[in-house]
Amino acid sequence: MKIKEALKIKELSRSEKEYILSKLLNKDNIFLHLNPEYEFDEEEFLKIIGLRKKEYPLEYIFNEVYFYGEKFYIEEGILVPRDDTEPLIDVAIKEFNSFTKATVAEIGVGSGIISITLAKKFSQFKFIATDINPKAIEISKINAKTHNVNVNFRLSNLLDEVDEKIDIIISNPPYVEEEWEFDALKYEPEEALFAKDNGTFLLKEIVKEGMKREVKLLICEFGYNQKKLMCDFFKSLNVENYYFYKDLSGNTRGFVIKFDN
Ligand SMILES: C[S@@+](CC[C@H](N)C(=O)[O-])C[C@H]1O[C@@H](n2cnc3c(N)ncnc32)[C@H](O)[C@@H]1O
Repeated sequence: MKIKEALKIKELSRSEKEYILSKLLNKDNIFLHLNPEYEFDEEEFLKIIGLRKKEYPLEYIFNEVYFYGEKFYIEEGILVPRDDTEPLIDVAIKEFNSFTKATVAEIGVGSGIISITLAKKFSQFKFIATDINPKAIEISKINAKTHNVNVNFRLSNLLDEVDEKIDIIISNPPYVEEEWEFDALKYEPEEALFAKDNGTFLLKEIVKEGMKREVKLLICEFGYNQKKLMCDFFKSLNVENYYFYKDLSGNTRGFVIKFDN
C-alpha cells in the first residue's frame, strides 16, 4: 500500500492515520507529506485500522499516552489518562504553591500521571500513591523511573496501607454511574471507571477519609453532573470551605476542600 492510499481510508481522522503511519514506519509527518508514493506492507496498518474501528484505544496499541505535555507508558488493564484531568493538575499546582513542604497522598494512581506530574514540580514534597489494581502499581513504577521522580506506590484500598500523616489528598477516582454503558469505555477496567451511588461512592469515601485524617487540602476530579450531589454531601458533613473548578469548556469538573487543620 502507498502512503497516499493509507491516508485516504475513510473511517479515521487524518491526524490519527498520520500518527499510526508515523509510528509504524518510524518516520515523521513531513516524510509522510513529501512521500505519498512510498510503499509499505499494509498488514499491520490494516490490523490497527480494524481495532480502531472497534474503538480499541490507540494508546494501548502503541503503549504510550501524552499527559500535561509529557509521554507516559500505558498498557491494557489501566485507565487511559484523559486530557480532562489536566485542569486537576492546574488547580493542584495553584493550591500546592501555598505549602512549603507537604506529604501528598493520591488515591487511585492508575498509570501514575497525577503524582508523577506533580512530583516533578514539587520535588520538596513527599508523594504516596495507592491503587487497588496491582497492574497500576507496576505501570506507575515504570513511569516514575522514566520520569526520574520519587513516589511511594502502594497496593491499597483508599489509604488503608498508609500510616503516615497526610497533608494533602488528591484523586481522580472512578465516578461514572454504574448504569451507564459507553462503547468507548468497553476496553478499560471497570474498577477504574464505575462507582455506586450515582458515581459518587468513592468521592464521598475520599472526603470522609480526608476528614478522618485531618488533612489540610483535598482535591478531586468528578463528572459533569455531580456538583449538586457533592454540594449536598458537603452540607451534611458541615464542610464549608470548598470550591468547584471548571475545565476549559466551562464544565464543572472537580472540587477543592480546604480544612482548618
Ligand atoms: C479514574 S482512574 C484514575 C487513574 C489515574 N489517576 C488517572 O487520572 O488517569 C481510577 C483509579 O482508581 C483505582 N481505584 C478504584 N477503587 C479504588 C480504591 N478503593 N482504592 C484505591 N484505588 C482505587 C482504579 O484501579 C483506577 O486505577
